[in-house]
Amino acid sequence: MTDCDFGKTDRKGVVPLSFPQNFLDELTARSDIVDVVGNYVQLTRRGTNLFGLCPFHSEKTGSFSVSPDKQIYYCFGCKKGGGVINFIMEEENLSFPDAVRFLAKRANMEVPEEEGDREAGRRRQRLLDLNRDAARFYHQMLQQPEGRAVQDYLDRRQIKKATAVNFGLGASLDRWDALITAMTHKGYTKAELLSAGLAVQNKNGGIYDKFRNRLMFPVIDVRGDVVAFGGRVLDKSEPKYMNSSETPVYSKRRELYALNLAKKSKRPNIILCEGNIDVVTLHQAGFDNAVASMGTALTQEQTRLLSRYTKELVLCYDNDNAGKIATERALQILNNSEFAVRVLQLPNRRMDDGTMAKQDADDFIKNFGSGAFERLLSGSENGIEFRLAQTAGKYDLTDDQQRLGYAEEVSALLAGLESPVERDIYTVRAAEAAKLTPEAMRLEVQRAFKRRLSKEKRARERRELNPTMELQPKVRAMHYTNVRSAMAEEGVLRLLLLDDSLFPAELPLREDEFSSPLLGKVFSLLWQQKEQGSAPRLTSLAGELSGEEMSHMTNLCQKPESVANGRQALTDYITVIRGEAEKRAGAGLVDPLLAVTEKFKDQKKSNGGKQHG
Ligand code: UTP
Ligand code: MN
Repeated sequence: MTDCDFGKTDRKGVVPLSFPQNFLDELTARSDIVDVVGNYVQLTRRGTNLFGLCPFHSEKTGSFSVSPDKQIYYCFGCKKGGGVINFIMEEENLSFPDAVRFLAKRANMEVPEEEGDREAGRRRQRLLDLNRDAARFYHQMLQQPEGRAVQDYLDRRQIKKATAVNFGLGASLDRWDALITAMTHKGYTKAELLSAGLAVQNKNGGIYDKFRNRLMFPVIDVRGDVVAFGGRVLDKSEPKYMNSSETPVYSKRRELYALNLAKKSKRPNIILCEGNIDVVTLHQAGFDNAVASMGTALTQEQTRLLSRYTKELVLCYDNDNAGKIATERALQILNNSEFAVRVLQLPNRRMDDGTMAKQDADDFIKNFGSGAFERLLSGSENGIEFRLAQTAGKYDLTDDQQRLGYAEEVSALLAGLESPVERDIYTVRAAEAAKLTPEAMRLEVQRAFKRRLSKEKRARERRELNPTMELQPKVRAMHYTNVRSAMAEEGVLRLLLLDDSLFPAELPLREDEFSSPLLGKVFSLLWQQKEQGSAPRLTSLAGELSGEEMSHMTNLCQKPESVANGRQALTDYITVIRGEAEKRAGAGLVDPLLAVTEKFKDQKKSNGGKQHG
């Protein structure tokens, strides 16, 4: 599987930490991470930690760990981690203050609200109200003479009234200010209209309606809030769709069109399509389990959202080239996930003149009816069948040379399957397709499988020989410029978190002596906690650090460190950090290569005696 993507949206709304420290301390003390996480993930104890299936990426074997001692979680697969507040932010898709409120409610604690938070919450709610009022307005316009063009378009696409109501479809008018006028009458400001992405500013500072003369699709999240809009043109002009920009209430990688409806479906799976229109048509035809990812590739966040509602996904992308690429990408994201995945392949349609026409789900239903779609759905292939068929399509299997090429390509594909039984079943299928004996095909697959294993082994060895890559944070902006110093800085932080009594009363290191700005910042934040009389904990930094920063911090907490000879280790670390800081101050820049080789020696030395405590 691919990495969990840490998008720009990872930090939801920049809300400064504004809860009193003692309140956060008590809140985290009363929100034991094992209890909280246990509500979402089934955990089993292994040694001092608990393990389970990571809720943030798809996996079959548990690499998600929870440490009751450190009160943190960390996933060895997707490398996400943090304290109890981060967990709720990620899992419930909440901002920091909302996650705090969520946990406070659970712990039966009163939240000392600050003006700033209340203000941010109010602004968010205003945007949601505005979106809802805008959706109502567009919907009403469908009944009005000015909305006639859109209603005609719906009729042409055979979308019934009841369906339009069910989806809250609407009409944006062929005017520059229809929505702005209606919404300012209701008391919304221009700033709010801009912030919701419903209006656009021109060069002279004036604003105009973003959506004009389009069929409007409100995007409604699983809580029932209108968070965004898509708008389709009524003719062949470009761009075909306009979508809301990212706003404080909308992040496109976290939403799926029509999931608010599909989540209530009684069908056992969820159908993923490309287009809004496909979804609308499918629901109208009785497939109320269809959703769309609105023209973007399926994201990790979306699969997480889906996993709350189903264990089986059916990919039903268009049968053109773009659709096939989208299918392949989605299969990669879903590879080895807990979902059962199937691919529904829409057939091409033979036209009267003998040519073959592409069709999407909407075309198919209109051409062949819902019974035919139901049959496709029940006969849909799993991911590997789809890939085998794709590969077979590239070769002429009556030609010997091409059969060889097919066998080679297919065996690489089959070698990627983890289960030996699955591997064998599809090996036999592939052999049949190419009219080869199963034995010959098995040999070929075995060879490919061995190649794969040794390739993985080589990659592992490379990593072990060259650990600098592994030592670096995943996100470039946090990269260490001085690995030798950074390793010592990490050590200082680990010790401070493990046992702050190892530290002297006065500040042992200044923030600017740290080579890594992130580590320096975290150090001084933790030191502040210590000075205020609480034990330094990462957990309460959830409001100060981004998700990526927090994940990096929990990652470095996984490295072994013992308090047994902690005092000596601390002295050593500080010596290294001071020495490197002096070199920086003296010679301008430290030779990065030198820093790396020295780190090697140093690492061996400082890790020699101590193992995990
Ligand atoms: P399609 O072009 O398949 O649209 O794009 P469609 O909804 O099926 O419309 P019809 O059937 O051609 O009328 C699939 C999805 O990709 C997004 C939209 O969400 C659309 O539903 N898209 C498409 C955009 O965001 N922008 C575009 O310019 C085109
Ligand atoms: Mn389409």
